Amino acid sequence: MRILITGSNGLLGQKIVRQCMGRGIDFCATSKGDNRNPDCPGDRYVDMDITSDSDVFSVFQSYQPTHVIHTAAMTNVDQCELHPEECKLINTAAVDRLFHASKSFNAHFQLLSTDFVFDGLKGDYAESDLVHPLSEYATSKVEAEKILLADESRNWSIARTIIVFGEGHQLSRSNIVLWAVEALRKGDPLNIVDDQFRAPTWADDLAWGCLEICRKNRSGIFHLCGPETISIYDLVCRIAVYLGISTDGINRIQTNTLTQAAKRPAKTGFNLSKSRSQLGYSPQSLEATLAQMKTISNK
Ligand SMILES: NC(=O)c1ccc[n+]([C@@H]2O[C@H](COP(=O)([O-])OP(=O)(O)OC[C@H]3O[C@@H](n4cnc5c(N)ncnc54)[C@H](OP(=O)(O)O)[C@@H]3O)[C@@H](O)[C@H]2O)c1
Repeated sequence: MRILITGSNGLLGQKIVRQCMGRGIDFCATSKGDNRNPDCPGDRYVDMDITSDSDVFSVFQSYQPTHVIHTAAMTNVDQCELHPEECKLINTAAVDRLFHASKSFNAHFQLLSTDFVFDGLKGDYAESDLVHPLSEYATSKVEAEKILLADESRNWSIARTIIVFGEGHQLSRSNIVLWAVEALRKGDPLNIVDDQFRAPTWADDLAWGCLEICRKNRSGIFHLCGPETISIYDLVCRIAVYLGISTDGINRIQTNTLTQAAKRPAKTGFNLSKSRSQLGYSPQSLEATLAQMKTISNK
């Protein structure tokens, strides 16, 4: 396998790079701008803007990948709502560009997608459930998925995931668990929604699943998330209990009291039967992942 990774400066991209290094898998890491991932050797990194035809063509031409894992995206849901054209360019048009490049090099193309493709009325979503996006971000991912779904070669996969957390180097944005640890340690009162339910996903588990899809030559849609669907309020309380911090300062609030640009689905969570049986995917519990976080153990 020769894996071209997009978004290697992002949280998931960094984990995929690390696992490729550890497992001796050949890879070319790409992101926009300089390499900010110290785990990635300089000679394995290329600056590639996924919105540029010439960048994409020249990287494919020189690396000749057998697989592409496409993690790069505009991932801030509210920014996508406020800048829908930019969102479409990065999350949909770039997928078209990369998928066509992959096809011309006979490379398997894997798209990272999201639980937000669903409307959140049902929960416990299977790969075959119907999508119903509620936001610009979600629509941009659904449109990207459609590009692949329309292709009969089946030399592609879609890995959908749910709030991804973990530690990385110089990340351009934080994640719910890092944010909660910091806020809880400061001791400020916290107002947390108790009417949104998610299955938080350890970035290392997700990276393993993405690579396993490639290694096992699977195609189609795979749901990859954490093992438990809980409210965001319960997630923050579980982190507080793990840290030995009182939950008294954590207040329950409702989503409709927030002024967020993008609408979020109420309850997602995935049915993991397909990934468990076809990939051997077995995500770790929240507490097991917290135990591995340096931010927590080095306090
Ligand atoms: N994080 C979640 O909770 C979550 C949930 C569901 C699905 N997903 C999906 O999973 C994937 C990985 O998420 P993540 O948490 O690793 O996201 P992330 O940390 O935001 O990483 C995304 C990376 O894409 C890069 N990027 C943005 N525009 C680019 C461009 N034009 N050219 C090249 N690179 C570009 C970013 O660069 P900079 O670092 O320079 O900004 C960033 O490194 C995404 O496709 C996301 O939509 C994530």
